[in-house]
Amino acid sequence: MTDLAARLPKAELHIHIEGSLEPEMMLRLAQRNGIALKFASVDEIRAAYAFTKLDDFLAVYYQGMSVLRTAEDFEDLAWAYLASAAADGVVHAEIFFDPQGHLPRGVSFDTVMQGLTAATARAERELGITSHLIMCFLRHLDEADAERTLDLALPYRDRVIGVGLDSSELGHPPAKFRNVFRRARDAGFRLVCHAGEEGPPDYVWEALDVLGVDRIDHGNRALEDASLVRRLAADGMALTVCPLSNLRLCVVDDMKVHPIRRMLEAGLVATVNSDDPSYFGGYVADNFRALEAAIGLAEGETRALVRNSFRAAFLPAETKARHL
Ligand code: ADE
Ligand code: ZN
Repeated sequence: MTDLAARLPKAELHIHIEGSLEPEMMLRLAQRNGIALKFASVDEIRAAYAFTKLDDFLAVYYQGMSVLRTAEDFEDLAWAYLASAAADGVVHAEIFFDPQGHLPRGVSFDTVMQGLTAATARAERELGITSHLIMCFLRHLDEADAERTLDLALPYRDRVIGVGLDSSELGHPPAKFRNVFRRARDAGFRLVCHAGEEGPPDYVWEALDVLGVDRIDHGNRALEDASLVRRLAADGMALTVCPLSNLRLCVVDDMKVHPIRRMLEAGLVATVNSDDPSYFGGYVADNFRALEAAIGLAEGETRALVRNSFRAAFLPAETKARHL
């Protein structure tokens, strides 16, 4: 096997850094920081990774991130992800982080930023991989909490390229965050939003028309609405699709019915990403390999998906052009 998926230079646009926390590192950081975890071993942690829906995963994800306390922890976490990504052929990563998962535990915005930016700078120097940070608001919290988080990010505008919206989707439509997204746009941030993972096509419409996003994260359920598909295609709106995540969170019942080919055939700018690689069974090349094994993703399709990753990246036009 040529392993084209790992060899082609690519961008990864949908990766939650807290979702790259491998069980081994979770135990190590728990010990380093004197934090009691309810898991005693790697096997016990992995045994908890049986999900039937997004909220099952989120409960474990928020527990897992409780071991992250110091700038060094965030640096170790991001460095490990960037090293794995580089080994998978990733040359540019746009990395989500969830400050509202850390602030209530007494971890400052500055601590998170110090750790993440130390790792991204080192990865650029030593691995030749560039990265951007995208701060996500937790949508199960209210808009006032997101507004306070945006205020904390404003002094870091040069190190955070965009804002996004993640966490529990159903019952938390994008329009709940219309004011904070407007203010983020006015401050110069790019905008992305998880929509249509579990939520209905209406949430994708809202992300487009109320928030005015630059990309949709997931977007699977957009396929239920033909006029929405035509709109996404006409706008060249990218979808950051996460196949292994979709399987593990039961967004698809079987990888054999994953809609990635339908998305490409409909003219959508679909990309392949890992979402939370530690929790969902693999990094970005594993996601390509899973599609190859299940639906026989062809070389031309792999190349189109990889080209899309650069089309959709928040990179200068000249840099993108080198990869297209
Ligand atoms: N936070 C981390 N991963 C997520 C996902 N797949 N959907 C929503 N929120 C998330
Ligand atoms: Zn995600």
